[in-house]
Amino acid sequence: PKLIVVTREGEERELDGADGHSVMEVIRDAGIDELLALCGGCCSCATCHVHVDPEFAAKLPPMSEDENDLLDSTSDRNEYSRLSCQLPFSAALDGLKVTIGAED
Ligand code: FES
Repeated sequence: PKLIVVTREGEERELDGADGHSVMEVIRDAGIDELLALCGGCCSCATCHVHVDPEFAAKLPPMSEDENDLLDSTSDRNEYSRLSCQLPFSAALDGLKVTIGAED
């Protein structure tokens, strides 16, 4: 499945994601290092913040209280904000587009 990532500079990249990886891992494994993902995916840093395409928002798993609290620490949270390490990527999300959040 394809994952489309928009970088902070507005560059759009199309990535091949593997089932069983999180959206954060797909982005990191493609070498896009502006998504810091400092905690490595254990939902404790918020540096993997992305804005998801509204079209896909309803297909994503609901957010945990921890994710919700961490998103409050980001400077550009909006209703489409998610932590990308908490989003399992799969064929059902083929074509998902995410925009990397601001560097806080
Ligand atoms: Fe740290 Fe997602 S990588 S919360």
